[in-house]
Amino acid sequence: MATDPKWANVAEDNLEEILIDHAYCEQKAASSAISLIVQFPEYDDIVFAMSEIAIEEMEHFKAVHKIIIDRGFIFGSERKDYYVNNLSKYFPQTHDRKVRLIYKLLFSAMIEARSCERFHLLSTTITDLELSKFYHDLEISEAKHYTVFLNFAKKYGRNLVDVDKLWEEFLAFEGKLIQNYGREEFILG
Ligand SMILES: [Fe+2]
Ligand SMILES: [Fe+2]
Repeated sequence: MATDPKWANVAEDNLEEILIDHAYCEQKAASSAISLIVQFPEYDDIVFAMSEIAIEEMEHFKAVHKIIIDRGFIFGSERKDYYVNNLSKYFPQTHDRKVRLIYKLLFSAMIEARSCERFHLLSTTITDLELSKFYHDLEISEAKHYTVFLNFAKKYGRNLVDVDKLWEEFLAFEGKLIQNYGREEFILG
């Protein structure tokens, strides 16, 4: 489900809000990569990849924060993120650690995929050249992250769950969710 292109105009008209919201998206992406390390330390390849992703996400955070300050905006508190909250409740609680890992990887893959789609829209729509280039660079980075998460889900979900089916169903759910929350001046939802 593609984002309504009108969203990019709303975003550009509310630059301070969108940048603050964006900074927290990057911080949360870093935090969830770190939490995967803490919760699943025995997966060497995941720990290695998540270390890299956490560092990259904090570099993104730092860059967004700098733009906020350079433009004379004030970095404020985090807002309530209904879209991400709803998305995070999609997969059921499970005591099976291996299945829980797959759910977490698919959740992160979805956040990366939607961020990537929105950064692409911003980079091609926004009239501010500095931001257009910035969002283009981020689009490439988040696309890589999306692939990392989805590939790990496929690797460790094999013989455990039907990853392709889970992903398709999750995509359908997210497509409906973004229609409810996707029109406001936030990066996600
Ligand atoms: Fe990022
Ligand atoms: Fe990312």
